[in-house]
Amino acid sequence: MVAEPNPIERYRNNLQGEVDSAVLYRVLAESESNPQMKEVYRRLAAVEEAHAEFWRGRLSKLGAAGGRRRVSFRTRALAFLARRFGPNLVLPIINSFERSGSEQYDNQPEAVSA
Ligand SMILES: [Fe+2]
Repeated sequence: MVAEPNPIERYRNNLQGEVDSAVLYRVLAESESNPQMKEVYRRLAAVEEAHAEFWRGRLSKLGAAGGRRRVSFRTRALAFLARRFGPNLVLPIINSFERSGSEQYDNQPEAVSA
C-alpha cells in the first residue's frame, strides 16, 4: 500500500459512518417492542459507539478533531421510518448498507487490525 500523506479525511469519513450506525441502532432500540431485540440493538449501538471512539482516537493522535458529526440525511430518513413503521421495515435496507460499509474497510489497515 502506498504511504498516505494525510489520512485525516478518511478517518473522518469512517467516524461519520460509525456515528450514523450508532444513532440508527439507538433509534431501533427505542422503536423495538421485543425486549430481547431491544437489547440486541442497544449492544450494537454500543459497539458502533466504540468504533466511533476508535476513529476519534486516531484523529486526535494526528492532532485533528473529530468534531461533532452531523447525522447524515440517509440516517435521519431511516430513523424516521423506523419510528413511524417499526424496525422491521428498515432492517433489510440497513443490512445492505452494513455490507457495503464493511467493504469500505477492506483496504484500510488500521480498521482490519482493530
Ligand atoms: Fe462499526
